[in-house]
Amino acid sequence: MHTFGHPVDMVGLMDVAARFSLPVVEDAAESLGSTYHDRHTGTFGCMGVLSFNGNKIITTGGGGAILTNDPDTARQAKHLTTTAKQPHRWEFVHDAVAYNYRLPNLNAALGCAQLERLPDFLTRKRQLAENYRKTFAHIPGIHFIDEPEGCHSNFWLNAVRLSGSSMSVRDALLAVANDAGYQCRPAWTLLNKLPMYQDCPRAELPVAEALEASLINLPSSPKLAELLT
Ligand SMILES: Cc1ncc(COP(=O)(O)O)c(C=O)c1O
Repeated sequence: MHTFGHPVDMVGLMDVAARFSLPVVEDAAESLGSTYHDRHTGTFGCMGVLSFNGNKIITTGGGGAILTNDPDTARQAKHLTTTAKQPHRWEFVHDAVAYNYRLPNLNAALGCAQLERLPDFLTRKRQLAENYRKTFAHIPGIHFIDEPEGCHSNFWLNAVRLSGSSMSVRDALLAVANDAGYQCRPAWTLLNKLPMYQDCPRAELPVAEALEASLINLPSSPKLAELLT
């Protein structure tokens, strides 16, 4: 998963996957427009997925796309996302448990129009990130989450990491920011803290817990690029 649009270390990941013969499916839901060493995220593994949900860099209202270079995988994905119905002039025969996950044509048409705007969205997102980078460079204890070296990020969702934070410090800062009219948010609540997973086995999660207590997402709409310059 390319979190917040920032590419994962794909060379490292593909190397581990190759050693253990694991197929890699990239969750590029957040990273349309991001590249790792000039190669687009979502194109390294056997499959990649994109999201066109309303909160993503381009939207079709809902839905997404699967990327693959393997024709068999593409055929199988299309089959399973279109109810696995066998082609027939009148029979309704489905040959697998499958889903009604197709992207309707109306949404796809919106997606085509949104794709034309993607370069502009990417430029504005980069400009906004540049503003945040400059602003936070002078504030001790707050680190702007930047694109990794060799990568070009879409900066889908800007974030800062607080040094030595705790949940109460994070929440106090979120309250101040939101009271001042800045819609800042925490990153996700860890799944093991959600009620339905309370009884599931889990390991110690010191890294995830530290990140949960220290990450703050910043307003990231491309519209903000001009406001902050
Ligand atoms: C990393 C990641 N994966 C998957 C999804 C789910 O995408 P969708 O809302 O299109 O199902 C999202 C979006 O919310 C996401 O950020």
